[in-house]
Amino acid sequence: MPSQSVRSRIVGTGAYAPERVVTNFDLAKLVDTSDEWITERTGIKERRFVADGQAASDLAYEASTRALDAAKLKPADLDMIIVGTISSDMRLPACAAFLQQKLGAGPIPSFDLGAACAGFVYSLSVADQFMRTGAMKAVLVVGTEVLSRITNFTDRNTCVLFGDGAGAVVLQRAEEGEAGVLSTSLHTDSSLATSLMVPAGGSLEPLTHESLNTQRDKIYMNGQDIFKVAVRNLTSASRFAISAAGLETTGIQWVVPHQANLRIIAQVSQRLTIPMERFIINIERYGNTSSASIPMALDEGVRDGRIKPGDTVLMCALGAGVSWASALIRM
Ligand code: ACO
Repeated sequence: MPSQSVRSRIVGTGAYAPERVVTNFDLAKLVDTSDEWITERTGIKERRFVADGQAASDLAYEASTRALDAAKLKPADLDMIIVGTISSDMRLPACAAFLQQKLGAGPIPSFDLGAACAGFVYSLSVADQFMRTGAMKAVLVVGTEVLSRITNFTDRNTCVLFGDGAGAVVLQRAEEGEAGVLSTSLHTDSSLATSLMVPAGGSLEPLTHESLNTQRDKIYMNGQDIFKVAVRNLTSASRFAISAAGLETTGIQWVVPHQANLRIIAQVSQRLTIPMERFIINIERYGNTSSASIPMALDEGVRDGRIKPGDTVLMCALGAGVSWASALIRM
């Protein structure tokens, strides 16, 4: 819910993408696909994959140090770390614990939040609640993914979509009347829970030789199910966040959407009647990086000068669960 008093404000952004570029032509050597199909159906031209030994917390560390530098803060200034991820370094402990260690932050609460592609916006909203109660003064919120490790490279329906990367923001308490997180809106509808999943490797279906051989430890998705619900729910959650802040779509300078499919973004743009020129889009270079996609695009928009102080920015994301979320912020 919007509050007129103590808000949290984004005071620094950062992003990191691993160096290795994988083009559509590279993937066409692995599965029966083409640059033309991938470009037309998704908008993706290339994505980044990690090097051997590089984990989600390594990407998170790079993005976080950039966000902290931009905020002119040190790891010791942080009160909490929240990491949105579905591809943590290990099943146990949390990616946030490794990130805390790499940053050299104090023994502050540090935890992962699993809401798939909505993980960053969910994490931002959770952080914002802690700030509004006055419990925290500075929180690091990260989205980081190494999806290349949980992608089935024999499934052309999914392997062309995903990439690796990380983005981060630092939140600090804003004074009255200043910029900040104006509203957030979080949702989950489990009726399509098995339309997007990693079936094996959890408590339901522990890893076996057979599940490894059949790639049940990798992402499975019914893309058409998710596509339809994505357009509908991203639009409704965006409208909710806008009206909860007492604004109209004309008051939005920039939309930073989850980068899953350019056609989803175009349909959301049409339904919200916000032109595509006001969307920050980098899907052609990074593909779908799940929880990392929004903070990566946000950082790009801030650093190239499109997003300016005082601009109102709408974020919206949807992923497995199905979980979806939106946030309206004033920079
Ligand atoms: N190359 C060539 N052909 C392909 C490929 C490919 N890479 N992938 C699928 N096809 C074929 C299919 O086999 C099918 O062929 P057929 O007609 O002979 O059966 C045809 O293309 C059409 O397939 P569709 O699945 O209908 O393709 P669609 O246009 O729906 O695009 C896509 C698929 C890109 C996956 C789309 O449905 C989508 O973007 N869905 C939503 C994804 C999303 O938002 N996910 C949520 C976030 S992810 C997360 O949370 C981790």
